[in-house]
Amino acid sequence: MTVIRTTKGPEYARLMGLGVARGEVTVTNDDVAGPIDSSDEWIQQRTGIVTRMRAKPETSVLDLAERASRDALIAAGIEGRAIDTVIFSTITHPQMTPAAAPELGARLGCPTAAAFDISAACAGYCYGIAQADALVRSGQSTYVLVVGAEKMSDFVDPTDRSISFLLGDGAGAVVVGPSDAPAIGPTVWGSKDGAEFVRMTHSWLEVRDDPTTPFPTLVQEGQTVFKWASFEMPDAAAKAIEAAGLTPADIQAFIPHQANIRIIDQMAKRIGLPDTVAIGRDIVDSGNTSAASIPLATERLFRDGQVKSGDLALQIGFGAGLVFAAQVVALP
Ligand SMILES: CC(C)(COP(=O)(O)OP(=O)(O)OC[C@H]1O[C@@H](n2cnc3c(N)ncnc32)[C@H](O)[C@@H]1OP(=O)(O)O)[C@@H](O)C(=O)NCCC(=O)NCCS
Repeated sequence: MTVIRTTKGPEYARLMGLGVARGEVTVTNDDVAGPIDSSDEWIQQRTGIVTRMRAKPETSVLDLAERASRDALIAAGIEGRAIDTVIFSTITHPQMTPAAAPELGARLGCPTAAAFDISAACAGYCYGIAQADALVRSGQSTYVLVVGAEKMSDFVDPTDRSISFLLGDGAGAVVVGPSDAPAIGPTVWGSKDGAEFVRMTHSWLEVRDDPTTPFPTLVQEGQTVFKWASFEMPDAAAKAIEAAGLTPADIQAFIPHQANIRIIDQMAKRIGLPDTVAIGRDIVDSGNTSAASIPLATERLFRDGQVKSGDLALQIGFGAGLVFAAQVVALP
């Protein structure tokens, strides 16, 4: 009987190097409060956000991704041509096709790498890590570049009170490659019926069929998403700790998606993380950058000296879909 040969990779994969880029422009709460009848005080109290970083008009989501990726390659000590797979998580690449990943690969000097985008919104980075880990350990890929990049400001309606004031622009990238020791725990992931909770205002077909349809922008049912994130996501995060054979006491850092400081704090409490755990709170300065928010918050913890290479970090992304993904990783 003819048998198909399959690949077999190294036993473990790890995060090898991190790079990030934030939008160049600091946007204050006062800058966004006017059109939504809000205030600096309300936004800070309800979300923790003091500023969000937004990209200049001429900076594209691909530009942000390229900046982050170049730094990730340097940090990992890897040449662009060694990358054999590019995974680009985004919901703000302005063209449905082609995907952003092949162009990013071409810019980085890996023009023949397998390259594809993931649409998993604020969970996109953790979805990417799950796939990179599996690709490396299966022997299908050796070095995978995972990028979460968003130019949310392109899809913001300044008069929308539900989500626009939360959003910032940025990118975070890591190289995932082979490892001698376990460094990425199993991913606990899933989805839930809730397409209407975080969504675009209109589909492209509505725009095509009715010329008076406004340009599609993001909206959400804030309270519904808030409750889902605060009450259901701690369970997923706790399962990721358990799946990695760990307890909360083994975790050095908690780096959740940066949606709302109150969600972050409630999650940490419900998971039962010790007070000594460093918590990613980059939302305060960078806002909610969807797929970029976890790597951005990771970089911030490094910069502030709150984590070091090898620390075990619990990361969890959650958002539009609804979708979520959590895993414990050893920091690069
Ligand atoms: C959006 C969010 C900040 C709103 O905060 P909230 O505490 O839930 O606010 P509520 O909707 O309960 O509204 C409370 C009050 O503030 C008012 N309000 C709502 N949005 C406001 C805004 N942007 N500025 C000022 N006031 C606002 C409401 O009108 C309401 O007033 P009332 O008490 O007089 O009726 C919060 O729900 C949230 O962060 N949700 C999900 C997180 C997220 O970012 N999801 C994205 C995908 S992960």
